[in-house]
Amino acid sequence: MRKPIIAGNWKMNKTAEEAKALIKYLIPLVSDADNVDVIVCPPFVNLAAAAEVLSGSNIKLGAQNMHFEKSGAYTGEVSADMLLAYGVKYVILGHSERRQYFGETDEGVNKKVKVALQAGLVPIVCVGETLEERESGITSEIVCKQTKLALLGLSAEEVKGVVLAYEPIWAIGTGKTATADDANDTIGAIRNAVKEVFGDDAAQSIRIQYGGSMKPANASELMAKPEIDGGLIGGAALKAEDFSKIVKF
Ligand code: PGA
Repeated sequence: MRKPIIAGNWKMNKTAEEAKALIKYLIPLVSDADNVDVIVCPPFVNLAAAAEVLSGSNIKLGAQNMHFEKSGAYTGEVSADMLLAYGVKYVILGHSERRQYFGETDEGVNKKVKVALQAGLVPIVCVGETLEERESGITSEIVCKQTKLALLGLSAEEVKGVVLAYEPIWAIGTGKTATADDANDTIGAIRNAVKEVFGDDAAQSIRIQYGGSMKPANASELMAKPEIDGGLIGGAALKAEDFSKIVKF
């Protein structure tokens, strides 16, 4: 059985003080959720503040991005070691906003996945299709290609430690959600792509989240689907009560 994993992607929201307040509010709401991995991913500059208040709780810390080099002349970037120093355990990689606005490529995502695993971070690797791709009937093709390229060169054993997030781009922040059946079918296709390259054991072990306007009202229906192992939550992660309701789907 795959353990469900619910992660909050805060994106570019909250100051350090606001981050602390949100986490303090959240901790007691999810303290009894021991059958679910619960993660919050605040902006880089709030990781220290978040780590301070998360200490001793069952919520783990994640980051929203990372550079693939260890150190050096990469202005504005942050390395895996820097994240580890704050107690970060997870890192979101290849989010569609990073691909769309910051020129991230499948090749760059693959480099980051490898470095994250080597450093002992759990990568949460995002894949997803645009509305045009969905309407052209090539959703599976697109997300399976993104998945295979993100995982290129990993061993089957390494793949088991990766988390994938299927996030249809047209569903992110729009209030539109893929139907639970559509999300389940596409995640099934992604799992099958993992199986083609890394075998059945890796495919059955890897956890695959759904993301895109997931909220308390649709979380239980999505989470009831056999292929869906969790959620990557944007907007609803900024409200402790909503996020905790999703954690308790
Ligand atoms: P959303 O964002 O829940 O606000 O749609 C999800 C994401 O981008 O990870």
